[in-house]
Amino acid sequence: LENGSLSIIVLGASGDLAKKKTFPALFNLFRQGFLQPEEVHIFGYARTKISDDDLRSRIRGYLIREKDASPKDLETVNEFLQLIKYVSGSYDSAEGFQLLDKEISENEVAKNSAEGSSRRLFYLALPPSVYPSVCKMISHYCTNKIDLSGWTRIVVEKPFGKDLESAEELSSHIGELFDESQIYRIDHYLGKELVQNLLVLRFANRLFLPLWNRDNIANVQIVFREDFGTEGRGGYFDQYGIIRDIIQNHLLQVLCLVAMEKPISLKPEHIRDEKVKVLQSVLPIKDEEVVLGQYDGYKDDPTVPDDSNTPTFATVVLRIHNERWEGVPFILKAGKALNSRKAEIRVQFKDVPGDIFKCKKQGRNEFVIRLQPSEAMYMKLMVKQPGLEMSTVQSELDLSYAQRYQGVTIPEAYERLILDTIRGDQQHFVRRDELKAAWEIFTPLLHRIDDGKLKPLPYKSGSRGPTEADELLEKSGYVQTHGYIWIPPTL
Ligand code: BG6
Repeated sequence: LENGSLSIIVLGASGDLAKKKTFPALFNLFRQGFLQPEEVHIFGYARTKISDDDLRSRIRGYLIREKDASPKDLETVNEFLQLIKYVSGSYDSAEGFQLLDKEISENEVAKNSAEGSSRRLFYLALPPSVYPSVCKMISHYCTNKIDLSGWTRIVVEKPFGKDLESAEELSSHIGELFDESQIYRIDHYLGKELVQNLLVLRFANRLFLPLWNRDNIANVQIVFREDFGTEGRGGYFDQYGIIRDIIQNHLLQVLCLVAMEKPISLKPEHIRDEKVKVLQSVLPIKDEEVVLGQYDGYKDDPTVPDDSNTPTFATVVLRIHNERWEGVPFILKAGKALNSRKAEIRVQFKDVPGDIFKCKKQGRNEFVIRLQPSEAMYMKLMVKQPGLEMSTVQSELDLSYAQRYQGVTIPEAYERLILDTIRGDQQHFVRRDELKAAWEIFTPLLHRIDDGKLKPLPYKSGSRGPTEADELLEKSGYVQTHGYIWIPPTL
């Protein structure tokens, strides 16, 4: 295990991502003993001229809910905040980054009592427009000191470009400055507990192995729904839309893990090799297999243009052209301002051939992985209705985490992923070729939307989205079960 000085530098320290996700995740790692105060120093860097204490007080409220906190928790918060220093500077000038380097180096000297090490993790909580200049500055002025053991790593977050061309341009820029092994592209869905479980589920259970293919599976849905709109970030969102915000990254990453072949081993490169193959097997998207929507009220946001063509909802059918999946639609669906908030994977099996119970219309077997909220896996199956009559009814085998793993805290995605970056494990990060393949799938469709050739249908805020999306689902072969609702168990 590595030890000695570890510097974590959060660039864009006063922004939303840093406050809401990065610092709280660092705090949780600290609280659980993964960041040792004798080794770790945290730096915030941004343009605003504020003091260390100003930054600390801006962050404090996001770390813990003060009203539920014990005196011990509050003490931990204070200890954590004392590890944070603030450096202000611009994102493209040498002075700021030279100053940052000086501060980091001083702390490295102070914290390298025994053997020297210089581990530097740069977290870019920044808009991608400044990635190229920031990366240049880091690589010129702030990399780890070569006379010490250690490393320099950078963590970047989507949006990685807007289409294939811009993403590749960004990748080349960064690629000239850092080796792929130093670059951690975060997709926070890969840090979610039930997403991380997919590999175990698929490859450690004999039960699923023979079933997981076109012979048995009728269709797969990967769904993301939010019951709120783009409040407060309409201007940003409008330049991207739901496909770039959710589908091209989060849902597509999940698709890879659901559809990929078994990797040779659990080595990160072996896993990522298999994910790339799935992406490269996806056929071009057909316009008739796309439904776009925009909720009413979206354009009321003053930062959204009145003639915006940006979808806040999309259902897109992907087809994987390989031996395992030919003919099985993978339906990716995401929407804002819908009637519920959840994310899940729904694998629907084919009908039982030669059905003697005539129970077809009651529904098919479905294996559902509920990513959030109420993490669970449940298998919808047909059973005999208990009682004197011989009739069938749908029920489920249910593994609900809150019930099965009582008292176990499920870590936040960012927490886990940041720990991976410190440990140097790239398994749950997106490799450059993966990113490229993901953009190749969606770029033609995105361009057609950007050019106004495809238009979103209006839908009511708080509804299921456009009814055309349900029609597409049905056309793709999804058979909805009527009268069955899974109810997460209450404790
Ligand atoms: C982000 C999107 O990547 O994911 C947001 O930009 C979205 O629009 C968020 O709300 C959802 O994340 P989670 O973890 O709450 O499902």
